[in-house]
Amino acid sequence: MADRGRIFITRRIVDLDEALQRHNLSDEYAIEVWEGERAPDLATLRQKVQGCLGILTQLTDPIDAALMDAAPTLRVISQCAVGVNNIDLAAATQRGIAVGHTPGVLTDATADMTFALLLTAARHVVAGADYVRAGKWQGWSPTLFLGKAVQGATLGILGYGRIGQAVAMRAKGFAMRILAHRPSPERAAQDGVIAADFETLLRESDFLSLHVPLRADTYHLIGARELALMKPDAVLINMARGEVVDPQALYQALSEGRLGMAALDVTEPEPIPADHPLLSLPNCLIVPHLGSATVETRRAMTELAVANLAAGLRGAPLIHRANP
Ligand code: DGY
Repeated sequence: MADRGRIFITRRIVDLDEALQRHNLSDEYAIEVWEGERAPDLATLRQKVQGCLGILTQLTDPIDAALMDAAPTLRVISQCAVGVNNIDLAAATQRGIAVGHTPGVLTDATADMTFALLLTAARHVVAGADYVRAGKWQGWSPTLFLGKAVQGATLGILGYGRIGQAVAMRAKGFAMRILAHRPSPERAAQDGVIAADFETLLRESDFLSLHVPLRADTYHLIGARELALMKPDAVLINMARGEVVDPQALYQALSEGRLGMAALDVTEPEPIPADHPLLSLPNCLIVPHLGSATVETRRAMTELAVANLAAGLRGAPLIHRANP
């Protein structure tokens, strides 16, 4: 029997074996799954991809041109995430490697998490729970943990793609005024959102939610100048990538009371070190990149990533391809 083609899967993901079987990959290919608790380091990754036809990657794997050159047989990189900022797309395109990703299936989970952070920040849910757990609660008080009204407040959505739109749908249920950056006129009319330029979004939002992909033009898109334009009691929510916000400028704005609060699902760097200055601030809430973290969503992401992998291996069009 001829040697089976190799596949490397950089982390064990939810229902992986079932998906590999559904797509008939388990018998056809020699599959290695990285079983480590943490992502493989760069040297390991480069060594493991040698001779592979396909790899299934996570957002923590740096997939650069050198790695692709270590695997000249590579036909497909299937990323189990919508974001592909860890992959050198131009290098993949140059080498004729298809890059798959998983948009759509994680839209609702990410929009739900956006709202979880928005409400948590608005109503001091974490601070209140910590206060009770620490035994500090002496009784009901008319002034304890007063929050910020959500109904009628202005929500700014930067990045009006699938997730931004799903956030807008939720915001309508909370009777918020919704500003969106660069929706198509048809989309804005259909969703009942107001198209706003970048400065208006910054100036008028009570809650500003970030949903742009990380690219060269969105790196530190929210920096000192942008934070200075925001309302001093505004809440900044980052569901995109940590690098979209300049962490030093954010620390300055929060610690000097020029921004009300930040609620971050993503940070720069990731993971954020325990002694990072942002973690010393009571008005900064950070969760560990949980946007798509539901069992159902991760199952759907596995299915789509494996389907993309199978298609790429067989020379068929990917369901969702991130490079031309
Ligand atoms: C993504 O898919 O890019 C999210 O950040 C994690 O699911």
